[in-house]
Amino acid sequence: MRTGVWLVGARGSVATTSIVGALALRAGLTGPTGCVTELPEVRGPSLPAFADLVFGGHDVVATPLAKRAEALATAGVLPARLAAALGEELASVERELRPAPTAGSQAERATAMVRDLTEFRERHGLARVVVVNVAATEPAPRPHAAHADPAALRAALTGPDEVLPASSLYAYAAVTAGCPYVDFTPSTGLRLPALAALADAHRVPYAGHDGKTGETLLKSVLAPMFAMRHLAVRSWSGINLLGGGDGATLADPAANAAKVRSKQRVLGETLGYLPQGDTRIEYVEDLGDFKTAWDLITFAGFLGTGMRLEFTWHGCDSALAAPLVLDLARLTAAAHAAGHTGPLADLAFFFKDPLDSATGSLADQWTRLCAFARQLHDGGADAAHG
Ligand SMILES: NC(=O)c1ccc[n+]([C@@H]2O[C@H](COP(=O)([O-])OP(=O)(O)OC[C@H]3O[C@@H](n4cnc5c(N)ncnc54)[C@H](O)[C@@H]3O)[C@@H](O)[C@H]2O)c1
Repeated sequence: MRTGVWLVGARGSVATTSIVGALALRAGLTGPTGCVTELPEVRGPSLPAFADLVFGGHDVVATPLAKRAEALATAGVLPARLAAALGEELASVERELRPAPTAGSQAERATAMVRDLTEFRERHGLARVVVVNVAATEPAPRPHAAHADPAALRAALTGPDEVLPASSLYAYAAVTAGCPYVDFTPSTGLRLPALAALADAHRVPYAGHDGKTGETLLKSVLAPMFAMRHLAVRSWSGINLLGGGDGATLADPAANAAKVRSKQRVLGETLGYLPQGDTRIEYVEDLGDFKTAWDLITFAGFLGTGMRLEFTWHGCDSALAAPLVLDLARLTAAAHAAGHTGPLADLAFFFKDPLDSATGSLADQWTRLCAFARQLHDGGADAAHG
């Protein structure tokens, strides 16, 4: 089952690490550490093999993939020997990358994106192509009347206005081309009523938003613990210090606001109330792709006794994110093959700000993910409609 993975932001850190990782797995040069779909509870015959994943993508910059891989190796994100050993394979992925369409109306750009996706699918005889957004985080868009209705949207896209933010234009193109769509970023993507209706009409599944790889991952484990022990969380404050392209993007206040909103959601959902405190993100160029998150939690126990917990997380963001990108591509492809359409709430385990999900607890999300994977492996299309 040869499956396309079309990365929006294909020359970024997360995308490059995902591509190098998949090629290294295929060549037997590394193991699947960090890949959830290789755990016994999730692994199974409905998932495309790593060797069956074919990569392509769009980006607004032209930096060669091999150069990005070299830079990531120098920064300690991936082993230098991999970037060197996979030169030929990287060159063949390079040939599948396309410049992000920038000319003409948004309708014309969407048509060019659809053409790139369809040609990629046909060129490689792919069963399907999953579009994964790993582009730079964008600010929330200004509301537009055409966001509510597919016909109005189609008409508005032909005009001179920028009706959709870039992530949503890619989502529009993906759905129009019949491709499932995954948003690994906090950008708007498919989260507009007109696009959700379009996805239903084209019978494609979609998943999002914003990969859960560090501080929020810990929050989704620790907050349910406080709730289950009936401890009162009084405040939860966090600071994230990060560099790299993502850090530079998030230095912009509007992109920063989108990310912070996405990071706070889990506390309200798992505790049932919002403790005092906030999450801050600060750009520290010298940290590169490595991130430090420091959180201070104050809480009260029996008789109101005050206590505190502090944690420090030193993560390599792209190394944490890349295996999840591969997991999401495999699971979303399997869901599409099984006939699933609409939001894939069972994939909430992977996201900070999941679509249509009732629980923010990692343990509950894990249980749902395992049940979903079992359905996919056992039931195929029947499970999709059960
Ligand atoms: N690394 C993690 O742990 C993690 C976790 C959750 C979410 N994310 C999100 O993943 C995304 C990628 O992170 P990164 O570290 O790879 O960032 P990065 O800056 O290294 O890469 C982003 C890429 O997107 C490209 N891009 C920007 N605008 C584009 C457009 N309109 N069309 C196509 N490409 C475009 C850039 O040129 C760049 O190559 C960010 O939005 C980040 O918030 C990352």
